[in-house]
Amino acid sequence: MALGDEHLSEQLPRNDLRRAGERPRAPEGAGGIHLSHVTKQFLSGQPPAVNDFTLSIEEGAFMVLVGESGAGKSTVLRLVAGLESPDAGDIFVGGQWVNEVPVGKRGVQVIFQSLALWPHLKVLDEEHLSNISFPLKMRRWSLQRIRERTLDVTRRVGLQETLFDRKPGELSGGEGQRVALARAMVTDSNVYVMDEPLNSLDPIARTKMRSEVRRLHDELGATTLFVTHDIREALALADQIAVMRNGSLVQVGTADTLRNYPADPYVTELLNA
Ligand SMILES: Nc1ncnc2c1ncn2[C@@H]1O[C@H](COP(=O)(O)OP(=O)(O)OP(=O)(O)O)[C@@H](O)[C@H]1O
Ligand SMILES: [Mg+2]
Repeated sequence: MALGDEHLSEQLPRNDLRRAGERPRAPEGAGGIHLSHVTKQFLSGQPPAVNDFTLSIEEGAFMVLVGESGAGKSTVLRLVAGLESPDAGDIFVGGQWVNEVPVGKRGVQVIFQSLALWPHLKVLDEEHLSNISFPLKMRRWSLQRIRERTLDVTRRVGLQETLFDRKPGELSGGEGQRVALARAMVTDSNVYVMDEPLNSLDPIARTKMRSEVRRLHDELGATTLFVTHDIREALALADQIAVMRNGSLVQVGTADTLRNYPADPYVTELLNA
């Protein structure tokens, strides 16, 4: 902005500032994921799925987003990943403004409930396209580098070598889950958004996998935004819990803060569910 333009910027709506070439800056210390006044409306005449939503996830933090069905949780994740674009507001990842950065180039890894594995590809094949090597093949990594990297991640997620030749349809829910985690981890990205990734598991596998997700997050020093319906899961996993309702943030805080100082009766209701 040219000198002397300051008074002008105060009068301009945000979108005009954009046109004037001003790039939004992340607030001080917002190195993880930061959403600022983000709104997304899918259908005109309907309430927005996400409404003036502001949330900061510190670098290295594990944030769990909870709320009932239709609250807008998946939409928040999709906005962070770049699978949807906001109607208003700013999204920052790693301190960078990413509103205009396409999906796949934001350094955000996404894990869906459906796992979204490629059914026709093997679990792992370093030489050819496979579920785990796919992102590295796309980046044209050398065979040697792919070998080292995939060996490291499959060990970390506890994926047995005997499963490498199988296709996703031949795996159990927990094994498929490990493949999805390994695929998300092979690239160097350290920001993860996970949309109810453990829902397809039975209760025992789910509890086990939950601790592994948290262990991996800690080991990688990742920043994670994790969506669940299950408040016990949220309490077990989260550094902080964000409660969402009707597209808006109701409260964010540690489990203790939410318990002791609920901002709304809905928070107490949710914690006691
Ligand atoms: N592509 C779309 N087109 C139109 N409306 C949509 C679209 N995606 C989501 N919505 C609407 O936006 C609102 C929020 O949806 P979202 O999927 O974010 O909720 P959610 O909190 O993830 O719910 P659930 O817990 O059931 O997964 C819902 O009313 C939904 O119907
Ligand atoms: Mg959802």
